[in-house]
Amino acid sequence: MRNFIVVGHKATTTPNFSLEDIPGTSGRLDILCRAVTAAFVISHGIRKDVCVFLVLLGGEVPKTIRLVGETLRHLNPDERTTAALLKKALAVPATPQWALSTSGIFVRTGGLAEVLADLLDAKLIYLREDGADIRGFDESGLSGEAAFILGDHTGMTPEEEALIEQAGARVVSLGSTSLHADHCIVLLNWFLDTKVFMQG
Ligand SMILES: C[S@@+](CC[C@H](N)C(=O)[O-])C[C@H]1O[C@@H](n2cnc3c(N)ncnc32)[C@H](O)[C@@H]1O
Repeated sequence: MRNFIVVGHKATTTPNFSLEDIPGTSGRLDILCRAVTAAFVISHGIRKDVCVFLVLLGGEVPKTIRLVGETLRHLNPDERTTAALLKKALAVPATPQWALSTSGIFVRTGGLAEVLADLLDAKLIYLREDGADIRGFDESGLSGEAAFILGDHTGMTPEEEALIEQAGARVVSLGSTSLHADHCIVLLNWFLDTKVFMQG
């Protein structure tokens, strides 16, 4: 299973945003929508072996939306459809337990610490420009149950980095050029699909 965790520092935790202006009214939920597309959508299908956690920190109480490829329905490649699915999830009353929204989409209160606690058994990989070159990892280091942690346009706070370090994540880079989070996810999926690992 490939897990992708994306932290949206300003992302709204309420459904009160406009589908006509997603970036301007939702605290950049558009970034998270593109991450969802990059994680799941392939030509004529959805990746079943992917799970995405969207950590939304732009409200009074943090919320997390979890999208599970195995049962995910109604996801189209366009940002607006994804935003509409997230809007529905944010209208579901959230508690610390996962509540089902539409098929394959769940919501609860809680942020990054809770997600990391959920993924204790996964290989945690924190994506950062100055990390160790991903091509240096052998297959066993990245395959199996892996969880890739990414920031939004503001990166990650020192407190979040401390949390990630405590959880035992390795810091891994896709190169020194700073990329968009969704582009990182496309590269990670390609990398894992093709298993382009360095020899020796
Ligand atoms: C737009 S970047 C954040 C930009 C920048 N770090 C900052 O301080 O605002 C969004 C996220 O993508 C990931 N990322 C971007 N470029 C990367 C690279 N070359 N290698 C690994 N991760 C990268 C990181 O997780 C980053 O937090």
